[in-house]
Amino acid sequence: MQHLNIRRAVAAVAAATLVATAALPTHAQPARSPAGDIWATRDQWQRVPEILTALGAAPGQRIADIAAGQGFLTRPLSRRVGRSGRVFAVEISEDARRALIELAERGTLGNVEVVAGTESDPRIPGPIDGAVVLNAYHEMADHATMLEAIRNALRPGGLLVMVDNTNLGAWAGSRREQVSHHSIDPAFVEAELRAAGFEIAARQDEFIVQPIRQWLIVARRPARLRSAAKDPDGQSTSPPLTGVGILLAWVVPSPSWPPPLAPQQ
Ligand SMILES: C[S@@+](CC[C@H](N)C(=O)[O-])C[C@H]1O[C@@H](n2cnc3c(N)ncnc32)[C@H](O)[C@@H]1O
Repeated sequence: MQHLNIRRAVAAVAAATLVATAALPTHAQPARSPAGDIWATRDQWQRVPEILTALGAAPGQRIADIAAGQGFLTRPLSRRVGRSGRVFAVEISEDARRALIELAERGTLGNVEVVAGTESDPRIPGPIDGAVVLNAYHEMADHATMLEAIRNALRPGGLLVMVDNTNLGAWAGSRREQVSHHSIDPAFVEAELRAAGFEIAARQDEFIVQPIRQWLIVARRPARLRSAAKDPDGQSTSPPLTGVGILLAWVVPSPSWPPPLAPQQ
């Protein structure tokens, strides 16, 4: 009898949660809404091909899938870079790493390496051509150190693509408040990327609008990191491009990359 009462109480709480969440407009539902099974239909809305295009992912490249989770993006990345490429699936969670190892062994081209990252160091065996952080930047408490480590692992001109949940009106507020709701305003992220020495190649605030709202930012490690050194006239004292510098400037993607992304259909 007591067992039955507990089950009734649990059912009542679950029903109340569903009603409360369903009352929100669709776009205002938290990303982990217990009511909407949006993650089960993610193939239909996450726009993976566009993310790979924004990253410029190509056969033979070395790409880091940072905070890879269960490997939603790891598998398509594995296919995109092919057998001659390499995907580093970075995770801090041991459970997620177990799932990733399973995926790497059975569901990929054998080109995925699972990496045990820490809160502040993705431990990417660089140099890499590109990196992606999907639905996870808001979880990174030590984000400044993470961005610096990613920038250092990228080759000059290499791209970092980030996609995350938009700060919704109802939750507008400090960064801390936003991330507690699994969202973050792209303006915060753009500023943090610039502070970490990245250039912003593209930003699309409405990359995804249904069933949740997500932004996309493409950031580039500059071909040459900006030097703080200036002469008294404010002119940079960096040396002119050498032969190696000219070669690097030639092989890195052009500043007009990535091509403009179409809005979500
Ligand atoms: C919401 S999941 C997203 C997973 C995956 N990117 C996806 O879109 O399916 C967030 C993941 O970020 C991981 N994570 C959080 N902070 C991290 C960090 N500093 N380094 C690596 N992984 C991290 C968590 O363990 C969790 O698996």
